[in-house]
Amino acid sequence: NTIYRTDYTSPPFLIDTIELDFELEPQRTTVINKMQVRRNPEAKYSPKFQLDGEVLQLISLHLDGMPYKNVQIDETGLTLYEVPDAFELTITSACEPANNTSLMGLYLSNGHFFTQCEAQGFRKITYFLDRPDVMARYTVTLRANKTAYPILLSNGNLIESGDLADGKHYAKWHDPFAKPSYLFALVAAQLVALEERITTRSGAQKLLQVWVEAHDLDKTRHAMDSLIHAIQWDEARFGLELDLERFMLVAVSDFNMGAMENKGLNIFNTQYVLANPQTATDIDYTNIEAVVGHEYFHNWTGNRVTCRDWFQLSLKEGLTVFRDQEFSADMAAADAVNAAAARANQRIENVRILQQTQFTEDAGPMAHPVRPESYVEINNFYTATVYEKGAEVVRMYQTLLGREGFRQGMDLYFQRHDGQAVTCDDFRQAMADANQRDLTQFEGWYSQLGTPYVSVRTRYDEAAQTYAVTLAQHHKPAPNALQVVRAPLLIPFALGLVDTNGQDLALQLDNENAPGAATRMLELSAAEQTFCFINVRRRPVPSLLRDFSAPVIVEYDYTDDELIFLLAHDSDPFNRWAAGQQLATRTLLTHARQAENTQLNTHETNPALIEAFGSVLRNPTLTPAFRAQVLTLPTEAYLAEHMDEANPAAVHAARQNLRVQLANALSDDWFAIYAQHQTPGPYQPTPAAMGQRALKNLALSYLTDSEHTERTLHLAQTQYDTANNMSDRGAALSALIHLGGELAQAALTDFYQRFENEPLAIDKWFAFQARQTRAEMDVINVVRTLLRHPAFTSKNPNRVRALIFSFISGNPAQFHAPHGAGYTLWAEQVLALDTLNPQLAARLARLLERWRKFIPPLREQMHKALETVLASAQSKDVREIIHKALLSAP
Ligand code: ARG
Ligand code: ZN
Repeated sequence: NTIYRTDYTSPPFLIDTIELDFELEPQRTTVINKMQVRRNPEAKYSPKFQLDGEVLQLISLHLDGMPYKNVQIDETGLTLYEVPDAFELTITSACEPANNTSLMGLYLSNGHFFTQCEAQGFRKITYFLDRPDVMARYTVTLRANKTAYPILLSNGNLIESGDLADGKHYAKWHDPFAKPSYLFALVAAQLVALEERITTRSGAQKLLQVWVEAHDLDKTRHAMDSLIHAIQWDEARFGLELDLERFMLVAVSDFNMGAMENKGLNIFNTQYVLANPQTATDIDYTNIEAVVGHEYFHNWTGNRVTCRDWFQLSLKEGLTVFRDQEFSADMAAADAVNAAAARANQRIENVRILQQTQFTEDAGPMAHPVRPESYVEINNFYTATVYEKGAEVVRMYQTLLGREGFRQGMDLYFQRHDGQAVTCDDFRQAMADANQRDLTQFEGWYSQLGTPYVSVRTRYDEAAQTYAVTLAQHHKPAPNALQVVRAPLLIPFALGLVDTNGQDLALQLDNENAPGAATRMLELSAAEQTFCFINVRRRPVPSLLRDFSAPVIVEYDYTDDELIFLLAHDSDPFNRWAAGQQLATRTLLTHARQAENTQLNTHETNPALIEAFGSVLRNPTLTPAFRAQVLTLPTEAYLAEHMDEANPAAVHAARQNLRVQLANALSDDWFAIYAQHQTPGPYQPTPAAMGQRALKNLALSYLTDSEHTERTLHLAQTQYDTANNMSDRGAALSALIHLGGELAQAALTDFYQRFENEPLAIDKWFAFQARQTRAEMDVINVVRTLLRHPAFTSKNPNRVRALIFSFISGNPAQFHAPHGAGYTLWAEQVLALDTLNPQLAARLARLLERWRKFIPPLREQMHKALETVLASAQSKDVREIIHKALLSAP
């Protein structure tokens, strides 16, 4: 049951309008669905009409008002054997929201009704052509008990509402825009809203609402501000206006993903809406702004122009992630003293995530192109590749065409495709045509899987005063025995040359008459190309792939001294950071190999690295946020991925050792930084204040690894007691946990009591404990104990992610403990979730997909755990992941 991209055919029928009538009851909800259907003139004729439908009970079926009998029902839907060319179909069916633990379709959360339809949840609500290229106009009537469900919401505009007999009431909604079924949503709940009225650029009045449970109303301001900023930004940057009279955000506690862009009715995981200083960290504030922006931006990139089929998912996701990244960068820059630094900080954060998640995915059994070729379960393809690499692919258009050219491409895309369901090729064509540019070669970014490598050779000719840079692109063999046709990609490669005095050279290529810009966007389109710069008086240090101009891995043999030089001098802040990370990675990997073979000599380190990092730390011309980025070492998972065979214990020993070295060698600086970067006064989520807290809390975290235990303990305890915000209180708690002992226990107890009624804070309480790395702690047992805590439940995805996912991905050395108890825990939890929530179970299953990468004793035990899951897993979600993991080539 693999679905292939190349098997696409147009829908045999079209549905122009749909009227839905819901009688909402938790145990059994009845849905009357009246559709106007006609044959698609563009499709191959078929007498049969097949509708998607899952776990539904069919009650009645009428065609043009007459009972229809020539029908067959199976677990995937209905087949009507003989239908006219155009007709009205009325289907009455029932579903069971209270028994729906998958969180797809119509389900209950805290006793209230919510929906999630993307990708294929609508078929669990009613029978339909549940595919994105069937776009209909929806009119929705909701009926429910008025006391239990006073608020009834659906897409579009409210056209009618009133009371009914038996304590019920109703609301009727109409969405003027045709949309695919995956964008349908309803909410029936007891909620309150923060409201704002705004005027958009055409002068239209709009109503904005953020709907939450009453006790969360004090946590809605930031989401509302983010929404208003997103609306203004999309007008200013892309000329795109809000097209509905009202726009609603709704928070829900049980949600598989981050949020969902349902037309006019965006539904959010509470985690990405609710924030006040007491419960939310700086990172939460930042994420809320990004996700609120993301879902809002989908209104044009996703909803007005949607995907023809699910293989095109990156058409909307890659583009919308790119848009939310640009939004966040512009917002940070607007509020910052140093706009360029704020922007670079955003870029570093985005790339860090790409390198940690997407590069790993690309190297493993789930590797797939940005536009996948096949899938078993589409939910498994909401991936870092489709989202994050997809965003990099969109960014490259802007890099190649310039901001103006990119904007023209976007304008043409909407001119051509507004109201349509289209493909990634259509987007590329619009970019090409608007700029009179042939982008045929660019298709490779959509069709080829794997991370491209660009190896760089340089040659300085002192006599001729030339500096030749040769770029060669290649790939590692594809994992999972995947066959890929390889052709050279079009790679925008930004390059600068840094002179010995630390200044950028004005670059002049051998075919140019005068020196020009200091950063050159080289276009690498062949397998190998040489670019020759002239009038180069001294051997420079190359600054490669500035601002991460393409999602590739650069190979160049820098010396340590060159990396230290770039860290100190590169005019490109991104590459300064990258140089520091490369230097740290190099040192850490060497130490990890030592830790594996002999004993790691804990006194031996790289003094030049410590000195270089110390200079960054003390440099007042650098923003605190940037200094924090540089001083944050690569994660253990990232380092393990860079070993020939991953050895989590060795990586942990090496990283911990370097942390201790940095902590002790720079302890005076850390204490000074800690004192200087306090943020007194009321909490402010501005880039400047966030940067101060990031650096101060990084200092605290390093100090927990220093010799100054007592002094650090005192700082952490004081910070815990006096904090007026979650960033500081959370950082202090995690420092106390790391230091261990009675104070840690007391703080954990206090934290729990303080936030007993704040589920998102309790999630943090679970996560801090799951991530603790004290060598003498057996964290698997801590996790096992927490699984039995009354506040733990497998039914809430946030709670599962807080405890189980945080442990497995955030604590590799403990999870991969040699006895294999972590793997037993993993298998147990995957199987427990498999029947409850297949989508979440599959995400958890993926955490072992890289098993072949590990040292043999771990690999063998992981293999057994995978076999255990394979023997009992039921869902196609989990089975697809396990199959791919087991089949993957060594
Ligand atoms: N479109 C949503 C977003 O990117 C994600 C929905 C994912 N849903 C799923 N079932 N995989 O904001
Ligand atoms: Zn999205």
